Amino acid sequence: MTSISRKNIAVFASGNGSNFRAIHRAVTEEAIPGRIGLLVSNKPDCGAVTYAVNNRIRTEIINFRDYPDKHSLGRHLMSILTALPADLVVLAGFMKMIPDSVVQAYKHRILNIHPALLPRFGGKGFYGIRVHQAVIASGAKLSGATVHFVDEIYDHGPILAQAAVPVLAEDTAETLAQRVLGVEHSLYPHAVKAFCEERIFWKNNIPFIRN
Ligand code: GRF
Repeated sequence: MTSISRKNIAVFASGNGSNFRAIHRAVTEEAIPGRIGLLVSNKPDCGAVTYAVNNRIRTEIINFRDYPDKHSLGRHLMSILTALPADLVVLAGFMKMIPDSVVQAYKHRILNIHPALLPRFGGKGFYGIRVHQAVIASGAKLSGATVHFVDEIYDHGPILAQAAVPVLAEDTAETLAQRVLGVEHSLYPHAVKAFCEERIFWKNNIPFIRN
């Protein structure tokens, strides 16, 4: 059997960092054959950065306003990622758009998690609590989480994995958000593990996970 080399993972996060922590836990418990070499954030005081610092994970704070255009930002991100070098980029609650040049250089190597069942309730403006408000207002009886590869359009790239949760009559956007977040914490490590174990295959431009 050929052995699989440990994958270098760069995580991008802007918020609380609970998905980042779930993936880091799976890496440290060796459930995922990878290492998190870098956390990139645009929010120096967010929970994800605190966690990275406490766990001695290299952290790069990027102030997107320091870059006059997306080309210079793209060059900077590429220099950070290629220095690692990153095999996989994991967006875990990252609130900025990744420049097209990086998306193209890392085609099928950038994952994102979205707190709804794409392709519904995604795209520009669908972030945070707004997603869950829209799901409840729609009358949908199922919501969930989606892990997808990132392309040049918000929440649009090929869907890799999904997990569903019920939408209950008594739900508020907050209670639904909590239920969805609960499944994110197992879905995202599951998808990252599949990538690191090279168990993703493509059929008609759609990715699947081999058991
Ligand atoms: C999650 O709900 C994720 O789906 C979305 O941003 C949120 C991040 O939460 N993209 P956390 O920072 O991982 O706790």
